[in-house]
Amino acid sequence: MSNTKGRIAILTSGGDAPGMNAAIRAVVRAGIAKNYEVYGVVHGYNGILNREIKKLDFKDVSEKIQHGGTFLFTARSSEFRPMEGKMKAAEICHELGIEHLVVIGGDGSFTGAKNLSKFGVNIIGLPGTIDLDIAYTEYTIGFDTAVNTAMEAIDKLRETSNSHDRCSVVEVMGRSAGYIALWCGIANGAEEILLPEKFDYDYERLFAQIKRNKEAGMTHQIIVNAEGVGHSYELAERIEAATGIETRATVLGHVQRGGTPTARDRYYASIMGAYAVDIIDQGKKSRLVGYKNGKVYDVDIMEAFAMTKSIDEYEYTVAETLANRPSLDS
Ligand code: F6P
Repeated sequence: MSNTKGRIAILTSGGDAPGMNAAIRAVVRAGIAKNYEVYGVVHGYNGILNREIKKLDFKDVSEKIQHGGTFLFTARSSEFRPMEGKMKAAEICHELGIEHLVVIGGDGSFTGAKNLSKFGVNIIGLPGTIDLDIAYTEYTIGFDTAVNTAMEAIDKLRETSNSHDRCSVVEVMGRSAGYIALWCGIANGAEEILLPEKFDYDYERLFAQIKRNKEAGMTHQIIVNAEGVGHSYELAERIEAATGIETRATVLGHVQRGGTPTARDRYYASIMGAYAVDIIDQGKKSRLVGYKNGKVYDVDIMEAFAMTKSIDEYEYTVAETLANRPSLDS
């Protein structure tokens, strides 16, 4: 290690997201270019505790950028969650000479990272989640691919719904956030978009609207339902019972997390990975890398946690305006 500037380790944590491999590749290659030794931690925080840590070379990250998932594997670690877990992880990092840890994950992963940084490991976070639910950033690695996967599936669903004059309830992921649902709702021209942040749970109004749509000549309808609203199978049964329209539910599920990352996900994951190494090299500590107003930037981890995020009012209004449905009042 004497000739290098130090050791950077990298891990992926929480749900995998397409583009994570591009980010790992960028950290490894930018790190080596800046004269750091770079180590990959396998299976998220568990990999630190179990010492599943391997040195990564320039070539170890070849042929990875085009694949979804994460070649370092990921986990939601229950062992790491208590403070003792974090202390032990920090001790292992100190023992192995790992000064900097790049964590690619979502909010849950950053909560762990924030506490680890208190024990003297320099944490740099990259936002990796299909949910887009991280407040400090307008972009998260994997969201673009997931939305495109869901959009293509819903296009297919529309064809079969159309052929059968059916109503289709399609549930998309997002945990308690409605970003994938909002994007698909607009991109797929859905007749209804149910978001946990916006839906008033007035099912009678929803059923009346679906009936009204049918009476106005809509032979089929697509209801995009966010995971945070959920209960799609039950909802389909209720729609059929209330409206008399044959209705099916489709839960897209984990298929949204896989697949070839889009150019956008590869591009920004790569830029963010390289940026993470740059800020390490500048001596910055405990930072999260994000994307705001068209630029990659970094923010203090504590400041980032104080931020909140909500569905953009204007975009939601547009979604409502464009939904292909006659008004109840007309
Ligand atoms: O955070 C990503 C995500 O795919 C969410 O959209 C979803 O709620 C959750 O992870 C599913 O988690 P698991 O893979 O543990 O079932």
